[in-house]
Amino acid sequence: MAEELFIKETTNKAEKYKSLYPQIKSLIEDEKNVIANLANIAAALKQTFHFLWCGFYLVENDELVLGPFQGPIACTRIGFGKGVCGTAWKEKKTIIVPDVDKFPGHIACSSLTGSEIVTPVFQNGEVKMVLDIDSVELDQFDEIDQKYLEQIANLLNQ
Ligand code: SME
Repeated sequence: MAEELFIKETTNKAEKYKSLYPQIKSLIEDEKNVIANLANIAAALKQTFHFLWCGFYLVENDELVLGPFQGPIACTRIGFGKGVCGTAWKEKKTIIVPDVDKFPGHIACSSLTGSEIVTPVFQNGEVKMVLDIDSVELDQFDEIDQKYLEQIANLLNQ
């Protein structure tokens, strides 16, 4: 397992994701402990992109419960269909929010958040967790983030 990330020095985020993806893959492929893997994925994303917050909420009965993350403290439980995370769970798809103040029901864990992306992780067609990323900038996420974050989410889809 690599103990250091090597990320291309570029402002092109697709290039960054492309260099990050195989490293995340090798970081988690020999480790069976899910919490350890989620913790390292959150750290790798934070280290690469310096997001305000990135981490996981895990489905537990009818709620999402806070899992491994990097960033400021966050709310611990989110209901089905609530906030951006609960909506991504309910709709079973990635949700991109260019301006969180314009998303009805957005749950503000930090007043610094400007935009957000939430990608579900599936197991047998059901959402088992979501990957949530917050940026201080408005309009920070697009289909490039969606594509690569869904690829990373798929690594956990087993
Ligand atoms: N903003 C999220 C809540 C989680 S925090 O961003 C870490 C939401 O609306 O679901």
